[in-house]
Amino acid sequence: MINTKKTLIIFTTSILCLSLAILSDGQGNPFLLQLDRWEMLLPSIGISAMHMQVLHNGMVIMFDRTDFGTSNISLAGGMCRYDPSDTAVKFDCSAHSVLYDVVSNTFRPLNVQTDTWCSSGAVLPNGTLVQTGGYNDGERAARMFTPCGYTQRCDWIEFPQYLAQRRWYATNQILPDGRIIVVGGRRQFNFEIFPRPDSRSRGSRFEFLRETSDGSNENNLYPFLHLLPDGNLFVFANTRSIVFDYKKNRIVKEFPEIPGGDPRNYPSSGSSILLPLDETKNTNIEPEIMVCGGAPKGGFSYVKSRRGFMPATSTCGRLKLSNPNPSWEMETMPLPRVMGDMLLLPTADVIILNGAGAGTAGWENARDPVTRPVIYHPFDRRFSIMSTPSRPRMYHSSAVLLPDGRVLVGGSNPHVYYNFTNVEYPTDLSLEAYYPPYLSFTSDLIRPKILTSDKVVSYKRSFNVNFSTPQFLTVDLLSVRILAPSFTTHSFAMNQRMVILKLLSVERDQLTNSYRVNALGPSTAEIAPPGYYMLFLVHAGVPSSGAWVHIE
Ligand SMILES: *[C@@H]1O[C@H](CO)[C@@H](O)[C@H](O)[C@H]1NC(C)=O
Ligand SMILES: *[C@@H]1O[C@H](CO)[C@@H](O)[C@H](O)[C@H]1NC(C)=O
Ligand SMILES: *[C@@H]1O[C@H](CO)[C@@H](O)[C@H](O)[C@H]1NC(C)=O
Ligand SMILES: *[C@@H]1O[C@H](CO)[C@@H](O)[C@H](O)[C@H]1NC(C)=O
Repeated sequence: MINTKKTLIIFTTSILCLSLAILSDGQGNPFLLQLDRWEMLLPSIGISAMHMQVLHNGMVIMFDRTDFGTSNISLAGGMCRYDPSDTAVKFDCSAHSVLYDVVSNTFRPLNVQTDTWCSSGAVLPNGTLVQTGGYNDGERAARMFTPCGYTQRCDWIEFPQYLAQRRWYATNQILPDGRIIVVGGRRQFNFEIFPRPDSRSRGSRFEFLRETSDGSNENNLYPFLHLLPDGNLFVFANTRSIVFDYKKNRIVKEFPEIPGGDPRNYPSSGSSILLPLDETKNTNIEPEIMVCGGAPKGGFSYVKSRRGFMPATSTCGRLKLSNPNPSWEMETMPLPRVMGDMLLLPTADVIILNGAGAGTAGWENARDPVTRPVIYHPFDRRFSIMSTPSRPRMYHSSAVLLPDGRVLVGGSNPHVYYNFTNVEYPTDLSLEAYYPPYLSFTSDLIRPKILTSDKVVSYKRSFNVNFSTPQFLTVDLLSVRILAPSFTTHSFAMNQRMVILKLLSVERDQLTNSYRVNALGPSTAEIAPPGYYMLFLVHAGVPSSGAWVHIE
């Protein structure tokens, strides 16, 4: 029996990052309780979730590639795809995209016709997903998906020749004006804007990508992009990073190379995050970037020449962009990792999960799955290793944060086809959810519950959220934040960002024993581009479930 009263006593914010708690049983004997856990949601969704995006109606859209061969789920209505240029099967009646409904834990096939392999995406301010590029007949495609109810029939709409250039391994970022910038791709040292200004536009040159390319275009693919509060873009490729004014096609500032000389982008695949933007201080926002893991320098040619799998790097670099002379501060992860995913949790901590301990991205290129997540607490720069392992999630796996605070994990297929037997790390079609320690029942007594919230949050305008807590509320420990859902693929969560909002007042309603918090919308569209965000209340380090708000 667990004595919850005693549980509460040991519950200080300093243990929230840990995955074990020391509890006391009824007789006063201490025992260890695992606070985190994994749940197998579905053993197979029929495809391997290589790309994932949470939509504002709680559905998650997922897809892999059309040239994997036939998947384990059929297209709806007896439909098929005939593609003479497909390298696996020219006549394919299987689906390569699904729509997953989080609440009912069910999925249905979607119909994508052109090849989405190693593509990118971003959600428009109106909630429609724009997904760009891919391979072969999909390399210049733009595709749209407008969310609808699970039982409705919404599906992909494809524009196969839309883009100005081929985009295979490009990165997308939503811009403050609601357009999308699409940067790079294999042998593409340029960027373009969606919607395409006119059919003659060819995009704009971006020499930085040529300069950061190793070999035949390596170690700078899927460049890390983060929109900064001043409206410029932070771009990280290989070991170098810049502040880029995309409007004038001008590098505003170049930072020192990340120490150690190890490349961080595909196929050396580390990951990167924009740490939460804090609007609660009465000073300018100080954006800070964190880049973690990857393969060591030379790791890709090492594996390609069949010499073996070099151990992954364990270093992270933090760069405070607002410093007069910014320099990387290096930290060491407790577990070295290549192809890890970095996600912001509602608590403003960073979870690092999935990936391998040796090798690189690419077919059959990695070994030693790293199955235990690590949670990093940016404030006191502390890493905690979580106690429960997952299945191996190697190349072509992905992860997204769900509005309920769980982390949805899927994919893993380091093979050219769907291979389920006689291979190391068989193609994984399953979906799992990770429950970080903050979801443990030991936090339930102080967990805020959003009852109702304004659906629209305007820039610089106040808005209300009504909520309750099971036991007590310490107003000083309450925080309101918004988190943009990511488009995750290849170890990078595009468009992910968190803004911690200014709290104006908290009132208690005696009658209903609930509270109303009044908070201020984000200051600018550069800080939070318009669109759908998950709004979280966090009380003493324990998050509520998220509510969707539209920032406009
Ligand atoms: C996928 O289908 C194949 C062929 O029917 C089958 O052998 C395999 O077990 C299935 N895999 C999963 C994970 O469902
Ligand atoms: C959002 O805007 C795009 C581009 O204008 C349009 O194609 C799409 O239908 C819109 N979605 C919604 C939900 O209105
Ligand atoms: C993977 O599957 C493909 C297609 O079924 C097959 O041709 C190939 O030999 C398999 N690869 C391995 C390593 O078994
Ligand atoms: C919050 O509750 C108050 C009454 O307690 C109500 O007037 C208000 O409309 C509610 N706000 C929201 C955002 O639902």
